[in-house]
Amino acid sequence: LNTKTLKNAVLKSHGRPPWYGEDGQPCFPAFVIGIAGGSASGKTHVARQIVRSLGSIPTVIILSQDSFYKKHSPEEIALAFASRFDFDHPDAIDMQLFASCLSDLKALRQTNIPVYSFEQHQRLDETKYLYGATIIITEGIMALQDPALRELYDLKIFVQADSDVMLARRILRDVKERGRSVEGILEQYLRYVKPAFDNFVGPSSRYADIIVPGKDNSVAIELISTHIRRQLEKRARQFRRKMAGTLSRSLSR
Ligand code: ADP
Ligand code: C5P
Repeated sequence: LNTKTLKNAVLKSHGRPPWYGEDGQPCFPAFVIGIAGGSASGKTHVARQIVRSLGSIPTVIILSQDSFYKKHSPEEIALAFASRFDFDHPDAIDMQLFASCLSDLKALRQTNIPVYSFEQHQRLDETKYLYGATIIITEGIMALQDPALRELYDLKIFVQADSDVMLARRILRDVKERGRSVEGILEQYLRYVKPAFDNFVGPSSRYADIIVPGKDNSVAIELISTHIRRQLEKRARQFRRKMAGTLSRSLSR
């Protein structure tokens, strides 16, 4: 396979790159992983460890569900600052936008991801332009909640941690990183976070392919990375086979 052969194949396939099939879809979609679990269970940590463990694989994107909180009205923002807004109900997330951005990225299409501020309790005006990842890792408390999202995942993970561990971590993190008071964190936790975990987040673990502990999880991370590498190798083999077929059809026309 040389550059000239490739150029010929592109010309003969009406300008369509050879890695796009005749159905107009890319032959090699991104590998998508969904990570759910309670707040501060360690989802982001697991996502970052997977990226680290994959090492040499290029372009891995971590997509947080937090980016998809709906735009809030001034009244809702006032409630949020008084710890009286429910950010833990599935309705707080724009699942449709989440699924559509993820679906674009999976199909190697460009997309714009909203940017969310925990300090301002608001989606910002700027967006983040993303394109062309080999692996996409999405993480969020409701990542396994929505059927349309679940459809897009090649691997579904649930991070399991004790509720006291999650609460202790959340207090430390929200004070340090999200500008919150301990009183506010506890009020929000008892009113919204814990009931939502019991009603929505915890039960969604039944959709997971694998349950990962929220601490001491290096063995689980290694197993997951090995699985991802194998799946990518399998896809690359299928891609090469499909591309060889496309090329020989184009050249014989
Ligand atoms: P989540 O994304 O689920 O909200 P994070 O991954 O941000 O949770 O973790 C919350 C806090 O717990 C962070 O301060 C992180 O450093 C800590 N943490 C997460 N996973 C571990 C772990 N395996 N061992 C020790 N601390 C952890
Ligand atoms: O990172 P983590 O999974 O903990 O993020 C989800 C949590 O963020 C939810 O439990 C929700 O209560 C909290 N949240 C918040 N303030 C916002 C938006 C979400 O405290 N403005």
